[in-house]
Amino acid sequence: MKRVPVSLGERSYEIVIGSGILSTIADAVKGLGLGAKMMIITSTRLWSLYGRTVQDSLAARGFDISVAHMNDDEESKSVQTVMSLYDKLVENELDRNSGIIAVGGGVVGDVAGFAAATFMRGLHLVQVPTTLLAQVDSSIGGKTGFNLPTGKNLVGAFHQPSLVWADVSTLRTLSERELRSGLAEVIKYAVIADPGLVDAIEHSIRLLSKASNETLVEIVSRCCSIKARIVEQDEREHGVRSVLNYGHTVGHALEALTNYKYYTHGEAIAIGMIAAARIAREINATDQNTVEIQERLIGAAGLPTRIDSSVGWQSIVDQLAKDKKRLAGRARWVLPKTIGEVFLTDEVPLNVVPRVLKNMTTPMESKA
Ligand SMILES: NC(=O)c1ccc[n+]([C@@H]2O[C@H](COP(=O)([O-])OP(=O)(O)OC[C@H]3O[C@@H](n4cnc5c(N)ncnc54)[C@H](O)[C@@H]3O)[C@@H](O)[C@H]2O)c1
Ligand SMILES: [Zn+2]
Repeated sequence: MKRVPVSLGERSYEIVIGSGILSTIADAVKGLGLGAKMMIITSTRLWSLYGRTVQDSLAARGFDISVAHMNDDEESKSVQTVMSLYDKLVENELDRNSGIIAVGGGVVGDVAGFAAATFMRGLHLVQVPTTLLAQVDSSIGGKTGFNLPTGKNLVGAFHQPSLVWADVSTLRTLSERELRSGLAEVIKYAVIADPGLVDAIEHSIRLLSKASNETLVEIVSRCCSIKARIVEQDEREHGVRSVLNYGHTVGHALEALTNYKYYTHGEAIAIGMIAAARIAREINATDQNTVEIQERLIGAAGLPTRIDSSVGWQSIVDQLAKDKKRLAGRARWVLPKTIGEVFLTDEVPLNVVPRVLKNMTTPMESKA
């Protein structure tokens, strides 16, 4: 078991990463000193897989547990879902000493987190992430929120959890595609901050689903440490936290253009990371080796390295221009200097991005 502290003054908390630890969560929750009432928020599927174990552990330690189910597809990351959770919180008489326990991937974590951030001006939140992406990324750092019909994550709040309890054995039931998607964020951490992580993932990347629990705990905890150190420096993303968006500029454009249906988030940012590396190479900010290491890792992870011609590089360029306008011209690129170090810039010559995207375009790739 590994413990990664997140030091944010009175909002400090611990990320605990282990294998087979769901049934012992109650001891850690007890240590938070909250009231007896807790609500587990989860999806129907995750309830039977893991939520029930969490409930049993807590009930055995005397907690008064209610359960709210929500759908966890991206469309359900909506104000309607948040409203239905508020109804459940009222119905079950949760108060300011109560806690919400989010059991699931990033969708459950973001919506349950937002309900925790806002109901009665804030309840305690325990994150129990069950996807690789949620364990290394979305459950940490306090960003919560939901989508509007006009755009993703348009409503949100910062609300740090009181505890993150990540059990890597829950990843065994995750689909191969979701697992690979989470790997894209792992590769992101290696590029932005930890060259040593490249070796660790290279050894297990092809058969991640068969990796030992120890390997998974090691990989997840290294990623958590990196995110924790960055969030500690810049909790509200005024500066350095934006390095976590490495690969996300092109990635978000790809997701938006394909209505969040064609690529998973990880697949989109995999392409985005390769685009960023190639842009850095074009402006002589990095060397060819830095580009090749990323292409090799992303390819070995079974993630796409090229852009489908059906998407069209020109429409990505147009989408990037739209995004830049929406951000009042503040769209900045996160580009690699070398593996383990990135920098922020808004000085990429206009002709470079289309050229890189065009060179990355290929006929339809088939996806498992
Ligand atoms: N708050 C943040 O900082 C942050 C960061 C990154 C992403 N996000 C958000 O996270 C969301 C994506 O999260 P995600 O990738 O975890 O996907 P997800 O929550 O959509 O889950 C993907 C699928 O896997 C299933 N699933 C989850 N855990 C499982 C398990 N252990 N076994 C079997 N099936 C399981 C879910 O039911 C779902 O069908 C997006 O909405 C994104 O905006 C938030
Ligand atoms: Zn991401």
